[in-house]
Amino acid sequence: MHVFIGVRERRLAGSGLAFIFLTTLLWFLLAKSSWHSGRFLDQAIAGRHFPSDCGVSDDFSTLQAPVIYFVTPTYARREQVAELTRLSHTLMHVPNLVWVLSEDAETCSRLVAEVALRSRLPHVRLARPMPRKYKQDVLHKTKTGYKKKKKEPRGVANRNAALDWIAKNASIEGVVYFGDDDNTYDLRLFDEIRSTQGVSLFPVGLLGERGVSGPVVSDNGSHVIGFTDPWFHDRLFPIDMGGFAVNVELIRTSGARMPFIPGAEEDEFLKALGVPKESMEAKAGNGTLVLVWHTQSVKRPVPKVEPEDVREQTNLTPLLRTLELQGTAVVSNEGGKPLPKCLESHCPTH
Ligand code: UGA
Ligand code: MN
Repeated sequence: MHVFIGVRERRLAGSGLAFIFLTTLLWFLLAKSSWHSGRFLDQAIAGRHFPSDCGVSDDFSTLQAPVIYFVTPTYARREQVAELTRLSHTLMHVPNLVWVLSEDAETCSRLVAEVALRSRLPHVRLARPMPRKYKQDVLHKTKTGYKKKKKEPRGVANRNAALDWIAKNASIEGVVYFGDDDNTYDLRLFDEIRSTQGVSLFPVGLLGERGVSGPVVSDNGSHVIGFTDPWFHDRLFPIDMGGFAVNVELIRTSGARMPFIPGAEEDEFLKALGVPKESMEAKAGNGTLVLVWHTQSVKRPVPKVEPEDVREQTNLTPLLRTLELQGTAVVSNEGGKPLPKCLESHCPTH
C-alpha cells in the first residue's frame, strides 16, 4: 500500500502519459485484490479527501440481534493512531458489534479507514466537523479574574452524525454506546450493556478526584435512586458519557441528539430520551463493578523531524514516511530536528 501511495503522489505531480497508464493499471489491480471489506479499499487508498458519509463494510449480514453500535467520536492528533489501534484490539474480541467511527472532520481520513479495515469488524465511517462558531474562546472565572479559555462541545457534531446514521440505517435491533477512543473497556461491559431495553447506567472508573461516576442503586438492586459524580452542577443525570447505553428503538422514537453545550452533553441527551432515572436499568453488578475507565493519554504536539539523507539507504526514510502517515511526526527541512541515531562502530557494544 505504501508503494502505491508513493506512486500516486508522483502521478499527481504529472509525469507523463505512460506513467498515468501504469499507475491506473496498478490502481485497478490493487482495488480488485481481495481485501476484507473490499468496498472500502477504493476509498481508503484513493486519497485524503473522502465524502462525509464514507460508507459501511460488507459484512453486516453475519450480525445477530441484539447488536452493539459502538459509537466512537475521534479527531486527528498525534496520539490518535495508538488510541484507535488499542481500542480496535478490544473491540475485535466482541461478537455482534458494529463500530461506528465518526470523525470530527470535514472528510474521512485514510488513517481511520486503515484502522477500521485492519480490525476486520463490521464498521461504518462518518465525518462531521464541529461547527466553526463553537471553536472560540469563552470567558472563565479563575482565582485571579476572568480568563479566556477554550471550552468546546467536543465530539458532539460527530456523535450526532452517528446517531443520524443509526436512526436511519440500523436494521438490526440493538444498543447504542458512546465509546470514546481513549477510554479502557473491560470485555464484560459488552455482555452487560447488550441487554439494555431502554437506558442502562453503570459506573465509570478513574473519573475525577474520587475516581468514579455512576448510578446509586437501591439496596435490593431494583432501582436507580441517584448518582455519584465529581460534578453535579444542577444536572438531572450527572453521569459520564461512558456510563450509559441506550436501546436503538429509543433513539428512534425520542429523536434525542446531543446539544452543543460544553458540560451538558450527557444530561441533555439523557433528558431528551424521556426516561426517568427510576426506570433506568442498573448494569455492571447493579452498579457495583467498574467495567470502563476514563483513561487519558498525555497529549503532546506533533514533532517536526528533519528528513534523512536519502543516500544513506536505510529504513529511516520509509520509517519517517510511516510516522507522517500516522500523524505522529511532520517531516520537514524547515525547522525539523534530525533523528538522534548511532551507526555501526559508533553504537555502544555493551
Ligand atoms: C470527557 C468525557 O469523558 C467525554 O465523554 C466527553 O465527550 C468530553 O469530556 C467532553 O465533552 O469534552 P475527555 O477525556 O475530557 O472526556 O475528552 P476527550 O477524550 O478529549 O474527548 C472525548 C471524545 O471526543 C474522544 O473520543 C475524542 O476523540 C473526541 N473528540 C475530542 C472529538 O471528536 N473532537 C475534539 O475536538 C475532541
Ligand atoms: Mn477522554
